[in-house]
Amino acid sequence: MADRLRHMLRDDDLSHDEQAEVLKLGLAFRQDRYLARPFEGPQAVAVIFDKPSTRTRSSFSVGVAELGGYPLVIDKDGSQLGRGEPVADTARVLTRMTSAIVWRTFGQDRVETMAAESTVPVVNALTDSFHPCQILADFLTLAQHRGGVDALPGMTIAYLGDAANNMSNSYLLGGAVAGMHVRVAGPNGFLPDPGIVEEASALAEQNGGSILVTTDPVQAVDQADCVFTDTWVSMGEEDQAATRSKPFWDYQVNASLMDKTKPDALFQHCLPAYRGKEVTADVIDGPRSVVWDEAENRLHAQKALLTWLVAQSTGRMDLIEG
Ligand code: CP
Ligand code: NVA
Repeated sequence: MADRLRHMLRDDDLSHDEQAEVLKLGLAFRQDRYLARPFEGPQAVAVIFDKPSTRTRSSFSVGVAELGGYPLVIDKDGSQLGRGEPVADTARVLTRMTSAIVWRTFGQDRVETMAAESTVPVVNALTDSFHPCQILADFLTLAQHRGGVDALPGMTIAYLGDAANNMSNSYLLGGAVAGMHVRVAGPNGFLPDPGIVEEASALAEQNGGSILVTTDPVQAVDQADCVFTDTWVSMGEEDQAATRSKPFWDYQVNASLMDKTKPDALFQHCLPAYRGKEVTADVIDGPRSVVWDEAENRLHAQKALLTWLVAQSTGRMDLIEG
């Protein structure tokens, strides 16, 4: 498997065509939840959490089961990883017993080390740097509501708030892969790393899209097709909660900002949401919000991703054909 082994560690691990293929498979899984069963046996898939989760835990657990497999859910405090066992040693053990490894953790270097030692696909279920599974679900939600996967290139998406976090990075890279016009807006001090912006800009150019990073929230949402936001206090930043509101108030997604978008623009939020902070209740609970479809689409998008990774890594292309 080693020479064709594929992982999903960051959004640009898929090419433009591969991302579209996974998203189309995601739409197919929306129609038929038992479309493919790559883990029939059942084979086990390790789903490891070093941080809390509701959606990722439930969607991967249910998803692996629906793919015919057994989700082996491991929490940090219940494993030796939490006591400092090396990531590489953990990989050497898990790969002898599982068919894929899904991991939510802190540093991106940790999933990279896991992948380097693994003989099965490794999926990033959120790190401090990226949340690529969420972006697949978000784009699947756009495809669901706006004319399919082929309608994604050329769309304008705007992300507001903490523009230095994992979601911002993933919208930049994932949107660039899709060929979208990606705008991210946040206050000075909370803007994306220039290296990510450079990589995203080069990818966007290849795929017919563009990247705009700005401190102006109105410029970001102007005539956008979809507005996204995220918590101002990511996991691991709880000790900064008291100081992590003031800089962001101008970037709160409210009715007045949504009025600047296209009239039929959608609103998405990866959740959990904090009403009255990054988004007002009338927006997230209003008619333009598709956040519950977005949450459900975690299931379909990740089943598509796992099936696609197994197909590529094992050569079982029948899993994704037809
Ligand atoms: N959006 C998301 O990843 O949610 P959880 O933290 O609940 O998994
Ligand atoms: N930026 C958030 C995303 C939660 C799904 C965090 O990392 O906590």
